[in-house]
Amino acid sequence: MMWTCFIYRVFFSFIILKRSNGISSPIQPFTEYKHSTELQANISDLWWTIDDAEREIVFELHVKTTGWIALGISPAGGMTGADIGVGWIDQTGTVQFQDRYAYNRSRPVIDYTTTDWFALQGREQDGWTAIQFRRLLETCDSMDVPIKSGTNILIYAYGLVDPDGNGEISYHESRRGSRMLPLRYYIDQLPQTEYADLDSFELRINHSVPVADTTYYCKVFKTQITYPTKRHVIAHKILLDSNSREFVHHMSIYECDPSTQFDNTKLPDDVCDDIRDQISLCSSTVVTVWSVGGDEIMTYPEEAGYPVGGDFTVNYYMIELHYDNPRLVSNRWDTTGVRFYLGDKLREHDIGYLTFGTDSTAQALAIPGGADRFIVDSYCPASASLNIPKSGITVFCALPHTHLQGQSVWTKLIRNRTAVQYLFNSEAYDFNYQFHNRFPKPIQIYPGDEFATRCIYNTKNKNLTTRGGGRTKDEMCIHGFIYYPRMNDLSMCLTHNDWSAWKRFLNVSAENFDETALQEILIKIKWTPQLVAQWQSFYDNTARGVTYGRSPFIIVETFAALPKYQDLEPERCSRACHTQISISSILIVLLARKAKTFFS
Ligand SMILES: *[C@@H]1O[C@H](CO)[C@@H](O)[C@H](O)[C@H]1NC(C)=O
Ligand SMILES: *[C@@H]1O[C@H](CO)[C@@H](O)[C@H](O)[C@H]1NC(C)=O
Ligand SMILES: *[C@@H]1O[C@H](CO)[C@@H](O)[C@H](O)[C@H]1NC(C)=O
Ligand SMILES: *[C@@H]1O[C@H](CO)[C@@H](O)[C@H](O)[C@H]1NC(C)=O
Ligand SMILES: *[C@@H]1O[C@H](CO)[C@@H](O)[C@H](O)[C@H]1NC(C)=O
Ligand SMILES: *[C@@H]1O[C@H](CO)[C@@H](O)[C@H](O)[C@H]1NC(C)=O
Repeated sequence: MMWTCFIYRVFFSFIILKRSNGISSPIQPFTEYKHSTELQANISDLWWTIDDAEREIVFELHVKTTGWIALGISPAGGMTGADIGVGWIDQTGTVQFQDRYAYNRSRPVIDYTTTDWFALQGREQDGWTAIQFRRLLETCDSMDVPIKSGTNILIYAYGLVDPDGNGEISYHESRRGSRMLPLRYYIDQLPQTEYADLDSFELRINHSVPVADTTYYCKVFKTQITYPTKRHVIAHKILLDSNSREFVHHMSIYECDPSTQFDNTKLPDDVCDDIRDQISLCSSTVVTVWSVGGDEIMTYPEEAGYPVGGDFTVNYYMIELHYDNPRLVSNRWDTTGVRFYLGDKLREHDIGYLTFGTDSTAQALAIPGGADRFIVDSYCPASASLNIPKSGITVFCALPHTHLQGQSVWTKLIRNRTAVQYLFNSEAYDFNYQFHNRFPKPIQIYPGDEFATRCIYNTKNKNLTTRGGGRTKDEMCIHGFIYYPRMNDLSMCLTHNDWSAWKRFLNVSAENFDETALQEILIKIKWTPQLVAQWQSFYDNTARGVTYGRSPFIIVETFAALPKYQDLEPERCSRACHTQISISSILIVLLARKAKTFFS
């Protein structure tokens, strides 16, 4: 039990978040904290400390209001399923606090199982409210969200008045926000001056904001790097443009395959779907993502850097930018981009990207409409990982990626047909909140390792088939990992369903059944629950092809069915994780120490 808790806490990943730490609250915090951040400029600040036994977190939230204030832990970035602490200072100057839970986007209900958020003290001053409160990291309460060792999604909101006589809070309207933070592994802001003197280069959009509700805009860049010898990028910063910031919803930056060739005087630069064919070799290796609420500066591990210059083979990058412009505002210019900072010294390792999942085609992904939980599995066999050096590679960051229907993405590390651990489990994935997930403890993988990847989709809001593809309304199942040292012969390992299996399943006899013919069938299907179940069973049992390598050295293999493996024990929550300072917590620490000496 204790061990389960320990594993549970250690294996979730985190992001390093660095942003302006400008605290604006006029109120002095009640005590000193390990961490602090500004949640919203001039509106809200947060401080926190996790105790040494890693069991409890103490927060202090300051908000510019004399009404109620709230901080929540969200499973996926929104209110649904969020565990929320709500507090205020009443007429008598006493702090009041409630443990609430949001079933959906309506007003969260009072937690009716166990109360797990507790106020310590609070006060109002100069039009601000400050409350110090605590919570266990793992409460084992179905109406709470564990504060996992990994990326935590904080949501906050506030009202202008105290709750009414019944303790009911008023609607927050637009007074809300969210932030991703690795609460348990937060690295406080390094001042911008850390980077100011470094050499850097930028990739920037230079385009007017499209006058359309939603646009995916893609622009390919030729690297302008001409350093005769290799240098290392050690951090990058997302450059937002104040003219266009409100329209930039999210951005992904891709490495184009080294074999890509373009006419350098006419690089692709257009609505992505209009140039899909041209940019197909630029779509599978994600270098970084940024979305609303995400961190702007990303630093790389000290021992590794992203190589540029010298004989590095990547010549092109692509920015894919999602513009949201529902009010159809015109005449806005956008220069969003990214700046890469180059270290003064070369680091020990080069960083690389490795992608698991499926191809982004209908052949690989044809997801029925009206499905609650449609599961698409994929498997990367040992033959692919034989390209990994004997000494192994170190994986330190995960970038799960699906589109709107994606609910969850995970990859398990399989050794000798036994699942050893999650490489990463993005249990609660949200397209609108994509982040770098930095592992607290990097994971070593070796030749012969295999990788099971699962993407889970919900299509309850759709009647039609969702097909694999690059458009937002299409789907993807891409689980990217960042690692070192970089391999030159393996960048992806992706599956698709076998054509003859499709033909048998769809009762098609056509000789040359292909993507176009399949699409034609898919768009006409009227989904029923029975049919959805039939498709799930097809997906669970069908023959598949797997493509791996790095172009132009691509290998295709087939499986009659996905390999079976001994799965992980299901995780169970245990109250033993947090009995008050007890033998068990001492044991956890001892076990942790021991584990450290075993693994280091
Ligand atoms: C916050 O307040 C400072 C000082 O009054 C001001 O310069 C700054 O623009 C404000 N920032 C925002 C985002 O409102
Ligand atoms: C939302 O949750 C509330 C309980 O908080 C429930 O009464 C309501 O029916 C739910 N609404 C939807 C649309 O599920
Ligand atoms: C951006 O585009 C404008 C208008 O097309 C052009 O005048 C300008 O030179 C471009 N800037 C850069 C940095 O390419
Ligand atoms: C792999 O598993 C089999 C059966 O469980 C076992 O006999 C074998 O020793 C294992 N091999 C390794 C290398 O662990
Ligand atoms: C699905 O189709 C039905 C009938 O054509 C329609 O009434 C319904 O609104 C559609 N639902 C969605 C989510 O598109
Ligand atoms: C294919 O044919 C079989 C037998 O005629 C039938 O049971 C099945 O539903 C058909 N499949 C599809 C997808 O139409």
